[in-house]
Amino acid sequence: MRLTALFPALCCSVALVLSFLCLFAGHKRNFMENYHMVTLNTSRIGENLLNSSNVSLFNNPFFNFLNNITNTINGDIDNAIGDLAHEFGVEDFYSAHLMDYCFGTYVPTALANATVSNKDIHKNVTGCSNQTAMFNFDPTAALQKSLDESGIPITLKDLNWPTQIEQGIHDVQILYHVAFVLYCISIGLSFIGLLTALLAVFANGRLAAVVNIVVTTLAFVILLLVSAIITAAIVRSSNVINDYGKPIGVDAHRGGKFLAITWAATAVMFIAIFAWCAECIIVHRRRRSSTYVGGKHG
Ligand SMILES: *[C@@H]1O[C@H](CO)[C@@H](O)[C@H](O)[C@H]1NC(C)=O
Ligand SMILES: *[C@@H]1O[C@H](CO)[C@@H](O)[C@H](O)[C@H]1NC(C)=O
Ligand SMILES: *[C@@H]1O[C@H](CO)[C@@H](O)[C@H](O)[C@H]1NC(C)=O
Ligand SMILES: *[C@@H]1O[C@H](CO)[C@@H](O)[C@H](O)[C@H]1NC(C)=O
Ligand SMILES: *[C@@H]1O[C@H](CO)[C@@H](O)[C@H](O)[C@H]1NC(C)=O
Ligand SMILES: *[C@@H]1O[C@H](CO)[C@@H](O)[C@H](O)[C@H]1NC(C)=O
Ligand SMILES: *[C@@H]1O[C@H](CO)[C@@H](O)[C@H](O)[C@H]1NC(C)=O
Repeated sequence: MRLTALFPALCCSVALVLSFLCLFAGHKRNFMENYHMVTLNTSRIGENLLNSSNVSLFNNPFFNFLNNITNTINGDIDNAIGDLAHEFGVEDFYSAHLMDYCFGTYVPTALANATVSNKDIHKNVTGCSNQTAMFNFDPTAALQKSLDESGIPITLKDLNWPTQIEQGIHDVQILYHVAFVLYCISIGLSFIGLLTALLAVFANGRLAAVVNIVVTTLAFVILLLVSAIITAAIVRSSNVINDYGKPIGVDAHRGGKFLAITWAATAVMFIAIFAWCAECIIVHRRRRSSTYVGGKHG
């Protein structure tokens, strides 16, 4: 019996669960929504348009109609802006996960005020797209879908939606696909690592430790790679959206919790390698000293 093998077995199970969560967080409504990769805050979309009288939106006959009923321009601008997004059928936020995206409203309000602080603002998820492997999150398409579903004849062009966002997101799409595949592989390797560690509890030899070192090292390399790739993709996506979206009232924020779990999985796997190396050295030493004491050779 080698009970010390239970510790790396535990590390492998933790890495297994964490990489599983990276893949499945947010795959359906209200399942770990806060573990999003990137969230688009569109609650202020169109904010810029209300300030200028020389924009295409004002030439859209529907806008004049809308303006007539809600009396947005003459009313309180701050309230009108919030109404605007909702009048268009645009949601407050769109959050990207590895296999789908979700959308909904901020409750109790999108903007912090004297009584409602930023901490008190929560997401209320209205729905999510169907989950697919190799999912492409395209904010332009997501917003277009909301506009289409609202039945209001206002296009993204009317909202001055920048084409650079679509291009920028398209450029990093391949990284999300690679990450999806690598998470699947790391789930497989963590599972194998768990099995070999459990087998090593009963197999005292050094060979078992060496096999485990190989498996955990592979799993660690894959996790390191996927965490680096997903971090780059998330940073790049949110920078693109912030750079081009700010002027039209759209901003993005990175999913800190998602990054935390993917890097935690990587770290635990590193600890597992360390545990196996220590185990290997201890077995080696024990062998040598017992050979010496027993006076046996060969
Ligand atoms: C709108 O214009 C006012 C005054 O010109 C300015 O204070 C405000 O920041 C502008 N808002 C936006 C969203 O540009
Ligand atoms: C205002 O509209 C006119 C005509 O549509 C256009 O030539 C001009 O460039 C616009 N100005 C601004 C600041 O957008
Ligand atoms: C706006 O409302 C007025 C009366 O309240 C109506 O006469 C006018 O036709 C409306 N304009 C549009 C574009 O609906
Ligand atoms: C949404 O974006 C607006 C404008 O950038 C910002 O003022 C507001 O605090 C954001 N809301 C949340 C909940 O992030
Ligand atoms: C802050 O927003 C909440 C929710 O919209 C509202 O009930 C409250 O009156 C606001 N407080 C202030 C001081 O505007
Ligand atoms: C959240 O949204 C649902 C509908 O999607 C609504 O019924 C519910 O009241 C909302 N919750 C809050 C706290 O606003
Ligand atoms: C999502 O899935 C449901 C049933 O599984 C299907 O009816 C619907 O058409 C799908 N939606 C999209 C956009 O593929």
